[in-house]
Amino acid sequence: MRRHICAGLMIAALILTFSGSAGTVAEESPASRVILSWTEASEATTQTFAWTANQSESTYVEYIAESVYTGGNTSCSKIYGTGTPTRVTSDVFYRYEATATGLSPNTEYRYRVVAGNIEGEWKKFTTAPQRSESFSFLYFGDIQVAANMAVELSAWSALTQTAYSNNPGAAFGLLGGDIVDSGLDSANWSTFLSAAEPVFSKIPLMPVNGNHESNHIGGKPLAYMDIFALPRNGPEGFAEEFYSFDYGSVHITAVNTHVYSGEQNLNAADYDAIKAWIKADIESSRATWKIVMLHHPVYAVASDGVSAKVLENWAPVFEDTGVDLVFEGHQHVYARSMPLYQGRVDYDKGIVYIMGVSGSKFYDTANESLMARVIYRESCYQVADVDGNSMSVSTYSANGALLDMVSLNARAREYVYVPGDMNDDNELTSDDLSLLIDSILGRDFSNPAADVNGDGAIDVRDAHSLLISLGGGR
Ligand SMILES: [Fe+2]
Repeated sequence: MRRHICAGLMIAALILTFSGSAGTVAEESPASRVILSWTEASEATTQTFAWTANQSESTYVEYIAESVYTGGNTSCSKIYGTGTPTRVTSDVFYRYEATATGLSPNTEYRYRVVAGNIEGEWKKFTTAPQRSESFSFLYFGDIQVAANMAVELSAWSALTQTAYSNNPGAAFGLLGGDIVDSGLDSANWSTFLSAAEPVFSKIPLMPVNGNHESNHIGGKPLAYMDIFALPRNGPEGFAEEFYSFDYGSVHITAVNTHVYSGEQNLNAADYDAIKAWIKADIESSRATWKIVMLHHPVYAVASDGVSAKVLENWAPVFEDTGVDLVFEGHQHVYARSMPLYQGRVDYDKGIVYIMGVSGSKFYDTANESLMARVIYRESCYQVADVDGNSMSVSTYSANGALLDMVSLNARAREYVYVPGDMNDDNELTSDDLSLLIDSILGRDFSNPAADVNGDGAIDVRDAHSLLISLGGGR
């Protein structure tokens, strides 16, 4: 699940050809629609950038720690973008992505994107602490435009800016699918990306696709995969449709429910491989909190064939692996379920399902029988506040008024851990030694794997023991 982080810089822009593309060299223009995300395993030491620029340009990101910035760009690190033509039906645009690695935890950086000779404006992001037990993040349900794209996405952009300005410490945002109305259409995507940029050029945005991103022939969310830069740790053949990442004490697994539409013509073996990946991914996590994000709701509030298959096939996996919370969408109401286990309310083993809607398309009816709260015709966003073994999820209106809240307690978990395997990837490497040293210097004693020599204390003797295990000391 976790991957090693490759040090060093990505080199040289890769320009791909695309059949039916505009073809000719475009006029030079600034990079635009910058969206942050994470593609590597460490939110504390990496940052991924994705942006739009002309096909012909050499385009790159310059970045530097704010504390050492003295003006100009001579001390900046520089990473070139890798380009992909978006698989949309008209006005193909190029998305570039690049990942900065080897960053310092809990550190503010400034960055800008340069396209050709045009320098973008400086922006800022902050890396995560090495280990976070107390933090907040945002969730946004369906945006999918109902009638007027410009008006509705302007409203959505304002909602995200309200969410962020009221929660300026939010670590990242989740986006639960049906982001656009047509995943085939370049204008849909460009308008969305412009609406998202004010907030998500500051904090990462981690989405999952819905049915409207998947309306390509064959049911793959092709443009979605081109546009977003996401972890590629999903099942083979389904990279970016399924992925997981960790932030501090939270493990988040994003899954593409639209595979149950049948459009990809998957066979039983495919579905088995997907289910096995979901199970292994969630089961292997030692996070305090296990969260799933998906589009079609597990417990639908209106009859839905895809939801029925998700309930039948994946809900037992979520229950068996100790999932605490599921963020979902698709049915255009806000709905928070009772804690549900095997279809019944269960306060010990139940999972809370929260369906969001952050756009302006609404439905007026819902089966409320398993729901603790349903709200109709209200664009809203969710704020998850994590504090150790407690988490609250609050729902706010577009103008920031509190609408609903639920408090959760973490499940008791018992794990077998490998001493020294700080990053839980089942290997002892220099990455683990680096993390262990950080823990010792930061007096962070929360990871039991840090007690390498098993003496009950976490100190420099553990680093020495790990160094010997790695063959680097005596
Ligand atoms: Fe949907």
